[in-house]
Amino acid sequence: MPTLLPITGRPVRVAVVGLGTVSELGLVPYIGRDDVTIVGLCDRDLARLERWGAVWPDAARFTDLDEMLGIDADVIDVLVPTPFHGDVVCQILDAGYHVQVQKPLARSLEEADRMLAAAQRNGAVLRVMEDYIFFPPIAKLGEVVRSGEIGAPAGIHMKIVATGRGGWDVPDTSWQWHFEQAKDGRGMLVFDHGWHQFAVAMWLFGPIRRVFGWVGATEVAPGISMDAPSTFVWEHTNGVRGVLDITLSLDQYFRSDHYTGDERIEVTGTSGYVRCNRISAFGVQQPSVEVYKDGEIRAYHALPDTLPAGFEASTAHALQHLRGETTDLVMDGVSARAVLVALLAAVESGKTGVPVDVPLD
Ligand SMILES: NC(=O)c1ccc[n+]([C@@H]2O[C@H](COP(=O)([O-])OP(=O)(O)OC[C@H]3O[C@@H](n4cnc5c(N)ncnc54)[C@H](O)[C@@H]3O)[C@@H](O)[C@H]2O)c1
Repeated sequence: MPTLLPITGRPVRVAVVGLGTVSELGLVPYIGRDDVTIVGLCDRDLARLERWGAVWPDAARFTDLDEMLGIDADVIDVLVPTPFHGDVVCQILDAGYHVQVQKPLARSLEEADRMLAAAQRNGAVLRVMEDYIFFPPIAKLGEVVRSGEIGAPAGIHMKIVATGRGGWDVPDTSWQWHFEQAKDGRGMLVFDHGWHQFAVAMWLFGPIRRVFGWVGATEVAPGISMDAPSTFVWEHTNGVRGVLDITLSLDQYFRSDHYTGDERIEVTGTSGYVRCNRISAFGVQQPSVEVYKDGEIRAYHALPDTLPAGFEASTAHALQHLRGETTDLVMDGVSARAVLVALLAAVESGKTGVPVDVPLD
């Protein structure tokens, strides 16, 4: 049985499986929190166990998930590669823990449904860690849209330029599962990265009813292609139209401590617009958010606007949920499944070349 919620009067006990690249963003927010105890760490890679074991020397270390299950933990954070999410998450839920899993929820609806069913039969929380909707400049953009300041929303324009220079080095092992996963159309830019943009669009404007995708490919090394240039257009059920444009610009430099890339999100309303000027990388030193209305621009220069800020805010929210301070999971399994449905419809449209009606539950 998973721990009865809310958890009060003691720290939340967290164990983690998967200590690779994203752990450098996903686990950092736990450091120094006195309301969390990291009780277990699991990775097949001893060097990664050593890296995080040094931070939490009292946490038990495991190279095999089977051995970790049974540990006194309330929630297990799942940071393993996406193709393993389905099996790993179901195993953990059935062992009686709450789960937080990194985005994307899963590769397929079948896997997603298995995860949702496992959460339901065990009475466990299944949360997806989606940092973009907690990234303070995007949260501010949402606040401006909802305030009505730019009028009724009419369109959302999103851009990802995958710049090749300026970010951290991703290990070869991480590239390998991404390239393997890309073989059936779930490429790194459209599926793994585009998840964030679809999640943000649906967080702002709700379900998507129709999507058209035009997915290109660019060979970046002999036999290895990236899924760009790619463009998607869609319509939400509330009539708001969206565009996501993904461009590869391998020689371009964009400074980042993490992933490099020039990302923008702009929401146009009937009387103005709000624009988020960067997400993963520092980019050019514009204010992170600008609001235009009636010939004037208001600019936000002091929001926390580095990538870790979104992870920090998302982690704080998850802990608030476990402590009973908020009922909304942001994002729960059902909302994450809806994002996956829309994203897979976009991928399918990219393959067939025709618009796809997104099934609405
Ligand atoms: N929120 C974000 O912005 C964000 C950013 C990057 C990655 N992610 C997601 O996080 C997940 C992990 O990505 P990554 O880039 O860290 O991958 P990675 O390949 O860098 O690291 C994965 C780690 O999991 C370990 N592992 C794999 N299977 C395991 C198992 N069964 N038991 C124990 N350890 C196991 C590996 O040894 C490795 O250390 C993916 O789902 C990815 O899409 C999210």
